[in-house]
Amino acid sequence: MINKGSPWYAYAVQTRPASDGPTPPAARMEWGTYPGAGPGAEVLGRSLRGRRILELGCGQGQNAAHLVDRHQAQVTAIDLIDLQIQHARARYGEMAGLTLLACDAMRYLQRTTAVFDIVYSVFGAIGLVEPRQLLAAIARHLRPHGVLAFSVPHPRRAGAEASDGPQPRHSPLRLPDGSRPPLPRWELNGPGWCRALDQADMRTTAVTELGHPGREHPTALMITARRN
Ligand SMILES: C[S@@+](CC[C@H](N)C(=O)[O-])C[C@H]1O[C@@H](n2cnc3c(N)ncnc32)[C@H](O)[C@@H]1O
Repeated sequence: MINKGSPWYAYAVQTRPASDGPTPPAARMEWGTYPGAGPGAEVLGRSLRGRRILELGCGQGQNAAHLVDRHQAQVTAIDLIDLQIQHARARYGEMAGLTLLACDAMRYLQRTTAVFDIVYSVFGAIGLVEPRQLLAAIARHLRPHGVLAFSVPHPRRAGAEASDGPQPRHSPLRLPDGSRPPLPRWELNGPGWCRALDQADMRTTAVTELGHPGREHPTALMITARRN
């Protein structure tokens, strides 16, 4: 899949690592916009050893590599953009327990027969795909009582209100070169995500706002839930 027309391709080109080579996995899992703020991998469960984990929208794979290296989890990490997966493979591809795939999240969930203990997304596919369809597809591949955790850009990060209903908001994707291609994004607030999770047979266990020093509004909304 090449996908050069997607704003996410431009994002992958413009955020590519300075050197594409083996990289030590990150010491900590990050959910927000400010490294070190907010929780880490512990929100996924107390022991992750051997857990089957799926990441939707892994980018360069730093969180997936952390979960494999530091927690001995078995992680499948997918991203829409081939180039992101190429970067992730160059950095972490030799790691046993890490499977990296270029695929759209919905397409992957529609085709796979795999069942996971944990599904997560960090500013990834959740929020970028129609939520009710995506959450229902996730629930079909999450074992009973399995964990879903995700963070999304906070809907009030720029002082705007959350969107609700089936229509996405067309918020700009802020690229390093200064361009701002519009991107459809479902900007639900905490109660909106709780309702969508409920409809997908999952129950919300926590809604957390994450901030960033110097920013007036919270920058990330983090949700954890369990499959019923
Ligand atoms: C803001 S980046 C976050 C990447 C990574 N999770 C991180 O924290 O660095 C969003 C990623 O989601 C990917 N993405 C967007 N839509 C997707 C979809 N429908 N399925 C899979 N990945 C998607 C993009 O290609 C991009 O790499």
